[in-house]
Amino acid sequence: MAAPRKNALIVGASRGLGLGLVETFLKRGWRVTATQRKPSPDLAALASDALSVETADIDDDAAVSALHQRLAGQRYDLVFVVAGVATQAHDPAHDVPRAVAAQVYLTNAISPIRFAERFRDRLAAGGSLVLMSSVLGSVGLNESGGWETYRASKAALNTLALSFEIRHRAENLSVILMHPGWVRTEMGGPEADIDVETSVAGMADVIEARLGRPGTAYLDYRGETLAW
Ligand SMILES: NC(=O)c1ccc[n+]([C@@H]2O[C@H](COP(=O)([O-])OP(=O)(O)OC[C@H]3O[C@@H](n4cnc5c(N)ncnc54)[C@H](OP(=O)(O)O)[C@@H]3O)[C@@H](O)[C@H]2O)c1
Repeated sequence: MAAPRKNALIVGASRGLGLGLVETFLKRGWRVTATQRKPSPDLAALASDALSVETADIDDDAAVSALHQRLAGQRYDLVFVVAGVATQAHDPAHDVPRAVAAQVYLTNAISPIRFAERFRDRLAAGGSLVLMSSVLGSVGLNESGGWETYRASKAALNTLALSFEIRHRAENLSVILMHPGWVRTEMGGPEADIDVETSVAGMADVIEARLGRPGTAYLDYRGETLAW
């Protein structure tokens, strides 16, 4: 008998890496629930029996609660929060308006953790929670500076994710903080090192190889462990 299809929830899938992850997991035979903030023609173009599309902004607690309700009864082998922003990432922290810096922190660090807390009861036994981090979130690997408020938000995500997993350690949660590489998306820009296909294929390999492994790992798309 064939193994049951695995089930993924991919959050922030309208474009870029989230969209690429949806495409990849569908090709690998998974069922995918993908979220967007507003209708995404690219996501709609992937329509199939294996894909359901939901709408939610991760900064909107009521929308996340409503999504949680709509998906009651579902269990996911993978919950992957991909959504993130890099607003005014090129300005030094002191030049970024307080409200903008606060919003980057909320979207990149607080909202993913609130989402994780809300959806941890939707993780299947042997499943993993993956949060999209960045190598720029590593304090130890920061040798070039720049991207200051963005870096700080991803460093905050890393520390909050580790604390989240420690707080729930009795549940043996499997948490991965993922660096996708420097990727040619709207955020990564045209000069980035790799294309979306290379990044998402690598991330999917890493995730499938360690699905359900308890603890928190900070990994890149090739499976290399990154320094905190
Ligand atoms: N590209 C890179 O080189 C790189 C490197 C390291 C880490 N990352 C991380 O990878 C993730 C995806 O990046 P990307 O390159 O694919 O960026 P992107 O092309 O700019 O896409 C960002 C995605 O996040 C969604 N999003 C933003 N704020 C959201 C919110 N409040 N609620 C729900 N969805 C929201 C966007 O939705 P809308 O279409 O509605 O705006 C879009 O789907 C981010 O977390 C980013 O920090 C990227």
